[in-house]
Amino acid sequence: MYNEPMLKENALKGKTILVTGGGTGLGKSMGKYFLQLGANLVIASRKLDVLQKTADELMAETGGKVLALACDVRNYEDVEKVIQAIEDNFGSLDVLLNNAAGNFISPTERLNSKGFDTIIDIVLRGTYNFTLAAGKNWITKKQKGTMLNIVTTYAWTGSAYVVPSACAKAGVLALTRSLAVEWAKYGIRSNAIAPGPFPTKGAWDRLFPAELQEKLDITKKVPLGRVGEHQELANLAAYLVSDYSSYVNGEVVTIDGGEWLKGAGEMNNLEVIPNEMWDVLEMAIRGANKKG
Ligand code: HXC
Ligand code: NAP
Repeated sequence: MYNEPMLKENALKGKTILVTGGGTGLGKSMGKYFLQLGANLVIASRKLDVLQKTADELMAETGGKVLALACDVRNYEDVEKVIQAIEDNFGSLDVLLNNAAGNFISPTERLNSKGFDTIIDIVLRGTYNFTLAAGKNWITKKQKGTMLNIVTTYAWTGSAYVVPSACAKAGVLALTRSLAVEWAKYGIRSNAIAPGPFPTKGAWDRLFPAELQEKLDITKKVPLGRVGEHQELANLAAYLVSDYSSYVNGEVVTIDGGEWLKGAGEMNNLEVIPNEMWDVLEMAIRGANKKG
């Protein structure tokens, strides 16, 4: 049930949606669902061969229209060209989904400054580049627009071993909340999704390589005991870019099975205590209460 499509047929009909990094992973899954709901899809990233293969596959599967555009999100000229190409092909853009990202695990002291720059530039600069280009375009043309940014839960907790990504995602969250207020007067909504673990090749190769998977079972970190299914994320994203969420603005929706809160609650690790030991503990605590 939870991995079935959720929105009404044609819920995104007539909308043109740009998904950065839409050739692979979660961007591809969200894009596919947008097409199934009647949207036109534009996918943009560095590898045109990967994008074109995805575009052909999704068009064949859904019968929708997909435009694949080569673009490095770090380069503002590339970004402006994407916006122009969308206007030339579809008339206008309705939804910007900032999904492209770069990341890898590393002790911070092993990074050189280029490593930091690489991640911050893809995630934060890439997001503000597209936000600025699309936003200016909408404002000039007096056209409404919707922005959705993919962050992650360590945007607000921070996280060891992915420090450039944590800094960049925190910046994206600040951008989301700031513009939700500033640009609402132009009819532009800004929201974010913070996913927990959703298996993709891109993320798993760089964050959970096989050597690490042998030592860590990621499902043990999640109270619901499983990773996310792509359709679950696609359902949430489709809602947030659709007109059904017209009054949702400045929100970040977490979809992580309770993972980040499990790490945060002071006593959450007591789940390791077996039931019989609770009898012993209760007696000890009641005994201590009596002694005063
Ligand atoms: C230390 C490293 C490194 C490593 C790269 N660098 N890999 N430093 N350890 N393992 C540093 C070095 O300084 C290097 O320069 C610099 O990064 C640039 O590396 P390149 O490989 O030349 O960069 P580039 O080709 O631009 O590739 C960018 C990339 C790569 C980020 C490094 O991994 C990539 O293309 N990623 C895109 C997809 C991706 O990352 N997807 C996962 C998103 S998952 P020098 O000159 O020193 O070599 C995600 C999930 C979050 O965000 C939450 C999960 C729960
Ligand atoms: P992915 O498949 O590796 O997707 C990342 C995409 O970003 C790729 O398609 C890549 O395409 C593109 N990209 C990277 N650098 C770029 C650049 N400079 N310019 C343009 N595009 C660029 O990984 P994913 O897991 O689906 O991640 C998608 C999003 O979800 C990211 O924002 C990630 O932080 C977020 N997220 C993922 C998880 C998870 O568990 N998977 C959890 C939380 C958040 P090219 O290589 O062609 O450029």
